[in-house]
Amino acid sequence: MAELIDGKAISQAIKDEVRNERAELEKKGIRPCLAVILCGNDPASTVYVSNKKKACEYCGFDSVSLELPEETTQEELLSKIRELNDDKKVNGILVQLPLPSHIDENAVIAAIAPEKDVDGFHAVSVGNLLIGRPGFVSCTPAGVIQLLKRSGVEMAGKECVVIGRSNIVGKPMAVLMLRENATVTVCHSKTKNLREVCKRADILIVAVGKPKMIDASYVKEGAVVIDVGIHRLEGKKLCGDVDFESVEPVASKITPVPGGVGPMTIAMLMKNCLEGCMRQNGLLNE
Ligand code: GUN
Repeated sequence: MAELIDGKAISQAIKDEVRNERAELEKKGIRPCLAVILCGNDPASTVYVSNKKKACEYCGFDSVSLELPEETTQEELLSKIRELNDDKKVNGILVQLPLPSHIDENAVIAAIAPEKDVDGFHAVSVGNLLIGRPGFVSCTPAGVIQLLKRSGVEMAGKECVVIGRSNIVGKPMAVLMLRENATVTVCHSKTKNLREVCKRADILIVAVGKPKMIDASYVKEGAVVIDVGIHRLEGKKLCGDVDFESVEPVASKITPVPGGVGPMTIAMLMKNCLEGCMRQNGLLNE
């Protein structure tokens, strides 16, 4: 039977650390501030943005919230981002994705000042990650590293297989595992013999976006399995990309869905915003 990796408890510990560090900053008269832009009325995005605002309140951050109508033009959105870039009070800027289809996401991400790019999506942030320089790291893969470290999973020298190659999860995940000295393989929709490749993994990180796709036949006995997926099944039950009932008896450690990777994303966003605020105030020795 696998040990559960408790993302709820670990994310709470991180938010509490951030809150305590924020209290220290207060003594210097500094208070982090996150700006969140929501464009349109995608229901899932509305919930995510509301959760981000709640996390700011919990951590004692100021937050600025811009809720723009679906019809907002790209130029109007870019102009709002420029205002926030120039606003000295704002330490982090997050534009909730997806954006309405008439807006070019890449242009929007490129417009965010890299020093305020708390999502870690800007090309400067991605480049700094790749060459091992300080900078923001995409929150979900950064959260997976925290789950592994805080659950005592040794990464150096281990075979790590990442399934998925998105800019937000798969690619930064692979680079982060490499930074931890794992031997990393990235699989995707064109990978041949996916099952055999996955079976080599000591650490299997699944971000394919298909409900319950990975069953025990993909998993080596004793592997650590991290499930980044989240899907709502008919009847409203949540599940991941991993078939939990099948894999749990084979794995040594596994993240549940819900309560695994999911809660880590917002905790890491708070950590990134605090870090951005400290860096902007010259308080980080990097
Ligand atoms: N949409 C889904 N996840 C994310 C995220 O981590 N950041 C942003 N900006 N949008 C998202």
